[in-house]
Amino acid sequence: MTFRTTPLTDSFGVEVIGVDLAEVSAGHRFPEIRALFEDHSALLFRGQDLSDAQHMALAQRFGPIEDRKADERKPGEAFEVPRVSNVQADGSTSAEMDLHTLNLKANFLWHSDSTFLPVPALVNILIGRVVTTTGGATELASTRAAWAAMPETLKARIRGRGIWHRYSHSRAKISPELAQLPMFNKWPDTCWNALWTNPVNGREALYIASHAFRVDGYDAAESEALLAELTEFCTQPEFVYSHRWQVGDVLLWDQRAAMHRGTPWPYEEPRTLSSLCCSVTEADGLDAMRMPA
Ligand code: OGA
Ligand code: MN
Repeated sequence: MTFRTTPLTDSFGVEVIGVDLAEVSAGHRFPEIRALFEDHSALLFRGQDLSDAQHMALAQRFGPIEDRKADERKPGEAFEVPRVSNVQADGSTSAEMDLHTLNLKANFLWHSDSTFLPVPALVNILIGRVVTTTGGATELASTRAAWAAMPETLKARIRGRGIWHRYSHSRAKISPELAQLPMFNKWPDTCWNALWTNPVNGREALYIASHAFRVDGYDAAESEALLAELTEFCTQPEFVYSHRWQVGDVLLWDQRAAMHRGTPWPYEEPRTLSSLCCSVTEADGLDAMRMPA
């Protein structure tokens, strides 16, 4: 059996048809999937039926699975695949202004995951578990396609500069109370090169996120204005794919070359995605992202 692909947009992303992700191994299909990932930045597989263990097996092929709660677990407690969900332990949905819901709303700001970690994320592999009747799309924006189309005058203002990231910065935009929670203040500020060059194909992409608060060489207000202008440029409709979830969808993307965001839904409706991020390794171009001190 062979597989085929069909574009998600004119500028990036493909749907992959005819692959059962449960059967992917290092020697079977993963090499082709990884090559598509490098080329297209976003991959969609529909109608998959992956268990958490199969989700983890797929993720491990991309890199080390990110574990942001390693320090919060007691000895012997196993890692569990994180759920992005408004469903609480008792089965009810979290109320619109609960801190938990506010954190989900912070995902509605365009971002790349984990830019605030000492080692950022290469990929997020999301699986649709419980979907809504309306709203709740996940949107991706290609910062590679956007960079290629950006006027040189705007490029010149950011090229070669370091951008500073902090988890609590994106949370503070939604709620000062949220930003104060210990889970958003565990890591020191990070600084990454504004451009991520893909080591496989040499394509450049702007590396920005809602977590970014400062650009080297600009003051706080200038940084904020420039980051907003860049985000606005990158998220124009021609660079965006909007994914309307069905149960069993697997959507994964290259965090080095795309931003993403969630979108609102009626909060009394349950919505649950499983999410695994993998960390980048040196082979993914990390060293060139570190700015000289
Ligand atoms: C995330 C995220 C968006 C969504 O899980 O990192 O940004 O659609 N999710 O829930
Ligand atoms: Mn995210």
